[in-house]
Amino acid sequence: MTILKDVSLKPYNTFGIDVKASHFISTENIDDLRNVLSSKEYPNKFILGGGSNMLLTKDINALVIHVNLKGIEILSKEDNQVTIKASAGENWHDFVLWCLQNNFGGLENMSLIPGNVGTAPIQNIGAYGVELKDSFVSCETIHIDNLTTRTFTKEDCNFGYRNSVFKQDLKGQYIITSVTFKLSTTNHNLKTNYGAITNELESLKVSKPTIQDISKAVINIRSSKLPDPKLIGNSGSFFKNPVIKTEHFNKLKENFPEIPSYPASEKLVKVPAGWLIEKAGFKGKTFNNYGVHKNQALVLVNYGGANGNDILNLSKLIQNTIQKLFGINLEAEVNII
Ligand code: EPU
Repeated sequence: MTILKDVSLKPYNTFGIDVKASHFISTENIDDLRNVLSSKEYPNKFILGGGSNMLLTKDINALVIHVNLKGIEILSKEDNQVTIKASAGENWHDFVLWCLQNNFGGLENMSLIPGNVGTAPIQNIGAYGVELKDSFVSCETIHIDNLTTRTFTKEDCNFGYRNSVFKQDLKGQYIITSVTFKLSTTNHNLKTNYGAITNELESLKVSKPTIQDISKAVINIRSSKLPDPKLIGNSGSFFKNPVIKTEHFNKLKENFPEIPSYPASEKLVKVPAGWLIEKAGFKGKTFNNYGVHKNQALVLVNYGGANGNDILNLSKLIQNTIQKLFGINLEAEVNII
């Protein structure tokens, strides 16, 4: 176990921001992770998973612990269900592909989401009508300060839209070491009613889709709209889709009759932030080496060498403009560090 000094975090965050960690270690098993956590030498610790949902704006003067635990285990098989435990450091998309190769259903709509298995529950990742919580059973964790282990059930996690207890009351307190899922082995519950999926399956000429077909459709849609972080630095949706009062929405509709929306509850409406940002004229705007993606206005991008603060300032400019134009408060989805 070697603790490295002055390590660039560029390869460890999908935005590709080049900041330094004063100290860095990659932990590949639980014992190493425990040893590092119990070390008194480095009181400040910073936990890093897949680095896919963060904007780094400064050097990190702490011991950065990269959670790189690997392994996938089938815990049990019942009638048409299987229970699987995946370690936190497994790449999310590789895990989804492994499930599809084994014909295990439930995660196919969440194909190609960047990040690792262990960070997926923190913001309850989701796409095309499916969220992590739909197949989540539990996750194992270690408390960062007292090293006790705790298993969180679905109820304990208090999942919401891109939200969980790990982003709220228990923020920064636990490291997720593995996640357990319940997936289907036959009679898969296919979710194809999300508009873009229906259209993509039609153009693939698939009338009776399998879970593998759905994954293929999702991969096609995502690749056409969302930039590949390996090529252009980004963190997926930078903002959450805001939820506003129906009265407020009805007023906006008078001025913008084409505004899209999804019902959120009886009195609340969810509005796509991407539409608001596009309407405000930011879609495809480039400032030096960063900007707003040309195919999806919800995504801020680093074309190479951008500074985290430049991107943060752009996000603030967008928030202020959306507030002025629509009276809507856009909340960042990514963690600003
Ligand atoms: N739209 C625009 N302009 C844009 C982008 C979107 O007008 O530049 C409009 C679209 O035309 C559509 C609506 O906004 O009417 C919704 O767009 P889309 O279906 O692409 O989804 P989204 O609301 O932009 C959300 C998630 C994505 C997820 C997709 C699909 C959030 C913050 N984002 O995006 O998640 O992949 O739905 O389920 O909820 C992520 O979290 O990183 C992420 C990519």
